[in-house]
Amino acid sequence: MCGIVGYIGKRQAEPILMDCLSRLEYRGYDSSGIAVRQNDNSNNISVYKNAVRVEALKEKSPHLNGNTGIAHTRWATHGQPSLLNAHPHLDCSGRFAVVHNGIITNYQELKQQLIIEGHDIISETDTEVIPHLIEKYYKGNLEEAVKLAITVLKGSYAIVVLCKDEPKLVVAKMGSPMVIGISDCEKFIASDTPAIISYTNKVIYLEDGDVGVITENSIVITKNGEEIRREEKQVHMCKADIQKNGYVHFMIKEIHEQPRVIRDTIVDNALLTTKLTIGKDVQSLSIIACGTSYYAGLIGEYVIEELLGIPTNVSFGSEVNHRRMIFPNEVIVITQSGETADVLTSMKTMQKAGVKTLAITNVPGSTASRISDRTIYTKAGPEVSVAATKSFIAQLIALYQLTLLHPSMSPGLREQLAAELNTLPAKAEKLFDLEPRIMECARYLTQCTDVFFIGRGINYPVALEGSLKLKEIAYIHAEGYAAGELKHGPLALLCAGVPVIAIAAQDSNYEAMVTSIKEAKARGAYVIALADENDKTIDDSVDVVFKVPHTHFLLSPVLHTIVLQLLAYFTAKLRGCPIDFPRNLAKSVTVE
Ligand code: F6R
Repeated sequence: MCGIVGYIGKRQAEPILMDCLSRLEYRGYDSSGIAVRQNDNSNNISVYKNAVRVEALKEKSPHLNGNTGIAHTRWATHGQPSLLNAHPHLDCSGRFAVVHNGIITNYQELKQQLIIEGHDIISETDTEVIPHLIEKYYKGNLEEAVKLAITVLKGSYAIVVLCKDEPKLVVAKMGSPMVIGISDCEKFIASDTPAIISYTNKVIYLEDGDVGVITENSIVITKNGEEIRREEKQVHMCKADIQKNGYVHFMIKEIHEQPRVIRDTIVDNALLTTKLTIGKDVQSLSIIACGTSYYAGLIGEYVIEELLGIPTNVSFGSEVNHRRMIFPNEVIVITQSGETADVLTSMKTMQKAGVKTLAITNVPGSTASRISDRTIYTKAGPEVSVAATKSFIAQLIALYQLTLLHPSMSPGLREQLAAELNTLPAKAEKLFDLEPRIMECARYLTQCTDVFFIGRGINYPVALEGSLKLKEIAYIHAEGYAAGELKHGPLALLCAGVPVIAIAAQDSNYEAMVTSIKEAKARGAYVIALADENDKTIDDSVDVVFKVPHTHFLLSPVLHTIVLQLLAYFTAKLRGCPIDFPRNLAKSVTVE
């Protein structure tokens, strides 16, 4: 998704902005651009932008001499990636430059009106109306002009505005995230904290409706015309967290971090008080999430129903706002980034209906953490690769712990599962011994156009997650199915050599899974199974088997998912895909 950065201070803005932009690359983008207020008598705004990666922008951009500037990575929503559609956008006179994250939903009518009034609008974007509105309202005071311009905007925005006539940056936020980094005699602006973490870890998170006027020495924030104070926060993140540290890709680094992530999430959540667990008397629960987090939610549903007997349903954040939904009193929201627009909008809808929200998120200070009633933090650390891996595993651990804490849990089973949870880091570590064989298997997948993942019970969502990982990073069409559903349609697609990846956990579904495997084999499928280390019989029924350390079946999704992450990773690597930044995708999906 679009990334925003801004700088004002005494240093040259250009190298700082480029550096900050490169730290936002993980969000996914197709164009980039920069605007700097020139350090000469003209104070003109110089802009360089195109449908290029940040590396190319750095190489090709002429030196922009100035101490105040803004920059952007664009993920196309309105209009294809092109020079004209890239940000920053300017008004007719080139006096104002704007970078924007979000979507202006009424831009068509604003654009028509501005054209009638003589404005020359040259891009297909929703954003370009903003500098023209500022131009229209400017009477010598940038802050006032921005405030007037945003009164006519509908939709979501985080904007940073640069003006040739005023040595300051003006920012405004509604619905899209924005953070201001504070340092002596210089200030940083970003849509995402990792962008500025090399420069400062003292930040202010803006709230919806805030307008900020930022100079090198001051930050003045107003909301509804009143000046307000926003608390300064310390961010606990260091540069090493967002570097590859010797790994070829962030994704494999993050997969390898998972034993540590499980350990840290367990230790941290051991401090969870009953205040943070599911309410004692709840009759039913909902879980809201998107993508991989949604699959964590499906596993959570299974665990909560199995262990607590509380009816639970899981909904996509993107669906909640488009249908009538009957919410229970308590809703769990799962979001790695804490910024997914579909999830945040659902949270707001639910909160208006009086529902209490419990967020499980990986990003302290994220919008979800700030607007939820209660928050549990997963301890995955910054996840840079677009494909979620360690954050998913951390979400599972948080969901297990949340469930184990519930007063209705039988103490014996709680103790057994808590002890078993503690064995998972070592068992996850052992999975890395499988890498050479997983890579061999990946070689087979690279030749395939379709892959099926099948699971049953608690491992059905693992099949969905395995297929999502393969699709998004290896660009191979994959489907995840509840194994029993194969015979209800998809079997028609099975023919000789088509890979079927079957998760054959040691649970009450085992025999049924073996039957599904036989059905697939009978049609010539190439079956790759994931099975328990104690399973001595499956080898004869399948083409390849990966044995995972034995654990309680409710915890088995953790180990199975890691194997499937590695399979997707090696397949993508062998196919030469841009693993960390898959095409068209973004890490933080900040538009609905
Ligand atoms: C897939 C992936 C996405 C995210 C989804 C929700 O690998 O990363 O499907 O899981 O966009 O993101 P969060 O969890 O940040 O709300």
